[in-house]
Amino acid sequence: QGATIFQQCQGCHQPGGTGLPGVFPPLAGHVPEILAAKGGREYIINVLLYGLTGQISVKGGSYNGAMPAFGAQLKDDQIAAVLNYISTSWGNKNPKAFTAAEVKAQRAKKLTSAQVYELRKKLGLK
Ligand code: HEM
Repeated sequence: QGATIFQQCQGCHQPGGTGLPGVFPPLAGHVPEILAAKGGREYIINVLLYGLTGQISVKGGSYNGAMPAFGAQLKDDQIAAVLNYISTSWGNKNPKAFTAAEVKAQRAKKLTSAQVYELRKKLGLK
C-alpha cells in the first residue's frame, strides 16, 4: 500500500527518493536523519498531514518550495503506510513502524504548514 501511495510523491521526490537538487529534497538517506532527531517522528507525520513551507537545508542543499498537505486526501492508515514506505526504502531504516493511531494523534493538532516549519527548526537538523 505504501508503494502505491508513493506514486503521489515521486513526481516531486522522484522514483528512488533522490529528489531534485535545489528543487525537491531527497528522502533516500534523509528520512533517517529526521527520525533520529528528538521530535522527528511527530514532525514527519505533521509534514504529511499539513505540508511544509519555508527555506530548509538538506544534505548541504537549500530548498524553499512548498510541500503539499496530504491530510485531506489520505486517511491515517494511508499516511502511516507511506511513511513506513519512505522510512524503509532505498536503504533507509526505521525500527519502529508508524501506526494509524500515531497519525490520528497528530491530526488532532490542526497545524498550518508554517507551524510545521517552526517545528522543523526545533529538530536541530544540520
Ligand atoms: C518536503 C515527503 C509529496 C514537494 C518533504 C519532506 C518529506 C516529504 C518527509 C520533509 C523534508 C525535511 O523536512 O527535511 C513527501 C511524501 C509525499 C510528498 C511522503 C507524498 C505523500 C510531495 C509532492 C511535492 C513535494 C507531490 C511537489 C508538489 C516537497 C518540497 C519539500 C518537501 C518542495 C520541501 C519544502 C520546503 O522547502 O519547505 N516531503 N512528499 N512533496 N516536499 Fe514532499
